[in-house]
Amino acid sequence: MSFEGVDPTEVATVAYDVIDGIAWVRFNRPEKRNCMSPRLNRQMMRVLNELEFRDDVGVLVLSGEGTAWSAGMDLQEYFRDTESQGLKGTRGAQAESYGWWRRLRWYQKPTIAMINGWCFGGGYGPLFACDLAFAAEESQFGLSEINWGILPGGGASKVIVELTGFRNSMYHAMMGENVDGKKAAEWGLVNEAIPLAGLKDRVTEVANVLLAKNPVALKATKDAIRRVREMTYDNAEDFLVRAQEAANSFDNTGRKEGIKQFLDDKTYKPGLGAYNKDIKR
Ligand code: ACO
Repeated sequence: MSFEGVDPTEVATVAYDVIDGIAWVRFNRPEKRNCMSPRLNRQMMRVLNELEFRDDVGVLVLSGEGTAWSAGMDLQEYFRDTESQGLKGTRGAQAESYGWWRRLRWYQKPTIAMINGWCFGGGYGPLFACDLAFAAEESQFGLSEINWGILPGGGASKVIVELTGFRNSMYHAMMGENVDGKKAAEWGLVNEAIPLAGLKDRVTEVANVLLAKNPVALKATKDAIRRVREMTYDNAEDFLVRAQEAANSFDNTGRKEGIKQFLDDKTYKPGLGAYNKDIKR
């Protein structure tokens, strides 16, 4: 994709490769610890747009070049420069960053955050937006907002209470102390922490498991898990009936094939793995 007409230095803020069904997307401002500028935010939305419905993309992984995943919002370009343009500048920059995080929360394909290093403040937005998260044990997570004099905005306060308990959230946000990948896993900010040297292999392994599953069922499942968190039991029950019926309108044969391969063909056991979705009758 050429991103025709876009300033090449803006295009360069996000790197990506598609390899064997996995889109490896990377924050690409390593010299600025991948902090998110308005230009990066705009380019990330373009990249998400480009990849979302491509047939050769089954899973999207978001990581960072260099020593950081993302050092949060760019204090110069996101805060100082946009504030100097008045409220219009501030609201415009917020819309661009919140926009791609929202897009990622409801992305068509399964998403994995691969936290390879620093993850601060605004970085919690895309962290929460990804369905799964795997961190290097050596990585560092921080709500550093308090350290420079603001509250954890841009969703970060919401993210921390969604992912971990009240006392951890309060301590993390008020003290401005970092936790490493292991503690982040203990708290529930990520699924697992792995030594950095093995991180990509583990994420590849997880992505390959997802690639083997029914993609319509995966999209329905990830949306269901996000949606039901804020529903009463009765509303969730009703929503899930309708969500499955809606999924059937996109793929009404996959689940029947899944049942057939178990009950009739006896070629797999759903309790132990996925049916072969490549068999079409
Ligand atoms: N905004 C703007 N510039 C940044 C940011 C940022 N969030 N993070 C790093 N940079 C810049 C530095 O100013 C420096 O620029 P320079 O080379 O032109 O001087 C460059 O990136 C490298 O940063 P260093 O601080 O030299 O890198 P180091 O590896 O020593 O430290 C660390 C990394 C700990 C991430 C440090 O850069 C840092 O504290 N960054 C700010 C983290 C933060 O609090 N982010 C904001 C969270 S709040 C929010 O997102 C709303």
